[in-house]
Amino acid sequence: MKVTIFGSGYVGLVTGACLAEAGNDVLCVDIDPQKIAMLQQGEVPIYEPGLCDLIRTNVASGRISFTTDVSTGVAHGLFQFIAVGTPPDEDGSADLQYVLAVARSIGEHLEDYRVIVDKSTVPVGTADRVHVAIQEALTQRGLTVEYDVVSNPEFLKEGNAIADFMKPDRVVVGTDNPRTAELLRLLYAPFNRNHDRMVVMDIRSAELTKYAANAMLATKISFMNEMANIAERVGADIEMVRQGIGSDSRIGYSFIYPGAGFGGSCFPKDVRALGHTSEQTGYDAALLKAVSEVNQKQKHLLFKKIESHFNGDLDGKVLSLWGLAFKPGTDDMREAPSRVLMEELWAVGARVQAYDPQAMEEARRIYGKRADLTLCQSHEQALENSDALVVITEWQEFRSPDFDQLKQALRHPVIFDGRNIYDPAWLQQLGFTYYGIGRGCRWMPT
Ligand SMILES: NC(=O)c1ccc[n+]([C@@H]2O[C@H](COP(=O)([O-])OP(=O)(O)OC[C@H]3O[C@@H](n4cnc5c(N)ncnc54)[C@H](O)[C@@H]3O)[C@@H](O)[C@H]2O)c1
Repeated sequence: MKVTIFGSGYVGLVTGACLAEAGNDVLCVDIDPQKIAMLQQGEVPIYEPGLCDLIRTNVASGRISFTTDVSTGVAHGLFQFIAVGTPPDEDGSADLQYVLAVARSIGEHLEDYRVIVDKSTVPVGTADRVHVAIQEALTQRGLTVEYDVVSNPEFLKEGNAIADFMKPDRVVVGTDNPRTAELLRLLYAPFNRNHDRMVVMDIRSAELTKYAANAMLATKISFMNEMANIAERVGADIEMVRQGIGSDSRIGYSFIYPGAGFGGSCFPKDVRALGHTSEQTGYDAALLKAVSEVNQKQKHLLFKKIESHFNGDLDGKVLSLWGLAFKPGTDDMREAPSRVLMEELWAVGARVQAYDPQAMEEARRIYGKRADLTLCQSHEQALENSDALVVITEWQEFRSPDFDQLKQALRHPVIFDGRNIYDPAWLQQLGFTYYGIGRGCRWMPT
């Protein structure tokens, strides 16, 4: 099948590469000429495990190509995927300018029947607005062309995106037309063989399903962070509590890890956008507000612990930061807790020596050259002449470091573990001062 995808970011590229791998003829369109030039040369502008190989293989076999030319894009695919960004607007609502710009340009070039597939995360009612934008452009051209608008939200996780797309838990399709549901069923058939994963519903329910899923996951994290903060105050260890509650099958173990707050391009903005949608209907979504509020506070927690350990004197101190990406498996630093921490440290005169296995380029792009940030070649190098270690992203390579070497490298044997990846008792035995999240007390060497 012929597929066009507008937006060559995380979602667009993964969707394009996986659909091409299944045998479809995919054309990816983006307004960023630099990005398209890179992709045409076989370079992938983002880090996502397996994506680069998948794109290169399919470029070589001619099943995926890239362009900035909208008219070629509209002419190409029966399916026109919209996978552009929906960043937060100032009031927290989703900024739909990119989605509607794509809709308009589809309307400006539409000649034959097309299925417009909304894959971006968009507020309830957006499919109607996409429909209107296309119709207005067609009316201006004095044309009548048939088309359908479908909601098909994406649930992939960065870091595991290829597997998530190839073996989805579900494929949600929101449509008011059984014909488009059948067309999408054909397109998704290669990913739907084991059992039927397609959940077909009305458009508004599909749009809300994506927000409800992200809000639920974000709520689990903020709930655990709240419990961690209580555990810390009452002398309990949240890691014990986590195991105690996770063993209940009604609760389960996933997404109940306390930490330095959730970031990324989805949860923070989607919780806010859903709250905004709800406000517009006159409903006060108190729980959603609390989820965001708890998360905001959590992102400042590590700084507070560091500041208190150094008795408020951080001017001239050097902190080693392990991890910059908002989670392991990606180079994405959008709304990452590492950014909040670094900016707080810089504000009080501290210096940061940071290392991340994938996000170094992204950090360089965001912060450029600055005297109080050294981007190091390895996690070991980040420790040199530093006053303490802060772990903020739980990459595998940080989980079992050589603690003797670590202790020798640091000026003070202090670890701030923003993801609870270390055993406090063990570190205490090794002579470290350990701070975790919700771990009852401050673990001091005996
Ligand atoms: N990143 C994720 O993990 C994830 C998961 C599920 C859903 N989503 C949702 O999917 C959408 C896309 O997210 P992303 O992370 O891939 O975004 P992204 O910022 O990585 O990529 C968006 C791309 O769209 C391009 N673009 C903007 N306007 C365009 C236009 N008019 N025509 C063509 N291209 C255009 C940009 O240049 C950019 O390359 C968002 O709504 C997001 O919430 C993201």
